Amino acid sequence: MSIPSHVPADRVVDFDRFGGKELTSCPHRRVSELFSDSPDIFYTPHDRGHWVVAKAELARDMLRQPDKFSSHPRHNIANQRKPRTLPNQSDPPEHTQLRRIVNGFFSPEGIRRLEPDIRALAQELIEPVRARGSCEFVSEIAQVFPVVIFLRMAGAPLEDRPKLAAMADRFTRSPEVQDRLAALEDLARYLQVLIEEREREPRDDLVSLVVQGSVDGRPLDADEKIGMVTLLFLGGLDTVAASLSFFMAFLADHPGHCQQLLDEPGLLPQAIEELARVHGVAGTERGVTQDMHYAGVDFKAGDRLVFPAHIYGLNNDWVEDPYRVDFHRPVSAHLVFGSGPHRCLGSHLARLEMRIFLEEWMARIPSFRRSSQGDIPTRGGLVWSPVRVDLRWPA
Ligand code: HEM
Repeated sequence: MSIPSHVPADRVVDFDRFGGKELTSCPHRRVSELFSDSPDIFYTPHDRGHWVVAKAELARDMLRQPDKFSSHPRHNIANQRKPRTLPNQSDPPEHTQLRRIVNGFFSPEGIRRLEPDIRALAQELIEPVRARGSCEFVSEIAQVFPVVIFLRMAGAPLEDRPKLAAMADRFTRSPEVQDRLAALEDLARYLQVLIEEREREPRDDLVSLVVQGSVDGRPLDADEKIGMVTLLFLGGLDTVAASLSFFMAFLADHPGHCQQLLDEPGLLPQAIEELARVHGVAGTERGVTQDMHYAGVDFKAGDRLVFPAHIYGLNNDWVEDPYRVDFHRPVSAHLVFGSGPHRCLGSHLARLEMRIFLEEWMARIPSFRRSSQGDIPTRGGLVWSPVRVDLRWPA
């Protein structure tokens, strides 16, 4: 891919968010180090060519200006996919109306009713491995827990879990753009059947809420329904699985931090915030709406901007000694859940899932280690994740 003529040579950096060597282990540290030597906003020729906003403060400002940096695929050719996932691929005022349909469901009060089910599931998953004294955390637990929660929320058959998780994984991490788009279409075809079932017979579930939703006093059309259901599904799967896997790998290597959680169980919500700050898993993308000079860069309309929010919690401007994990640190700034109008809709659910899981795990397996030393293999893509985390404990 050639570099567009409006991109100066001193702003070009070799960073490949799907296949970069920095993403194969310790990605947060290695990408942060790469970025600390790069311009605040740089251009990479990989993944069809795009800008990368390396500095958290700039990212926060830009994500709050949808008129300049849009989520709509009309401003970002590389983001034109079917279905248009919603509400994330829309701008206000359309975005505001679409998001309103599901806001209540995902509010702290809305998700509270899910707590007993989430807790029962955590127990169901942990109990069988406890007696064994070991597990491969990523595949045996992390990739099951949030998928089952979503399938139950949506009222979909649990036996479809492996198939759906595989589709989400292809969409999130396949290095081939055509494969990513094909995975999204496969997923949408699957979810379309569920939508049609709920249209015929609504229930008390998330898919029924979407199919009965309206904007401007009219019902959602078919594209809007599938776009919303597909994103809700994608949003919650990989992100929670990847976060929990990073958290458990960290705790296994840091018994002192585990002990703090055992001594002070009330510390857990703050500890989750701190673990999330250093282990961001998701980023986002925008398209430039007009030719403009911004933060020292000449942008052209249609330029793509990638925001690797995975590492924004590791910047010295916001956090002192950012690599040090300190559960007693006052909750510090990070953009792990994004910023601006598209700030993660599922953040309360994600926090609830992670808190309940860790409570149930620590109550049953208070002391655990990784089975082998060395760096954990990881994968990049839209969501960064450990490949496997082998754990052991006294059975
Ligand atoms: C640790 C877990 C999670 C992380 C790190 C995360 C991260 C993010 C980020 C960075 C964004 C902003 C995207 C943007 O600005 O374009 C976002 C948006 C979103 N997330 Fe999450 N997410 C997580 C869990 C969830 C869960 C559990 C759900 C729901 C099931 C969810 C649903 C969504 C939705 C629907 C949006 C789009 C919101 C909008 O466009 O208004 N996420 N998430």
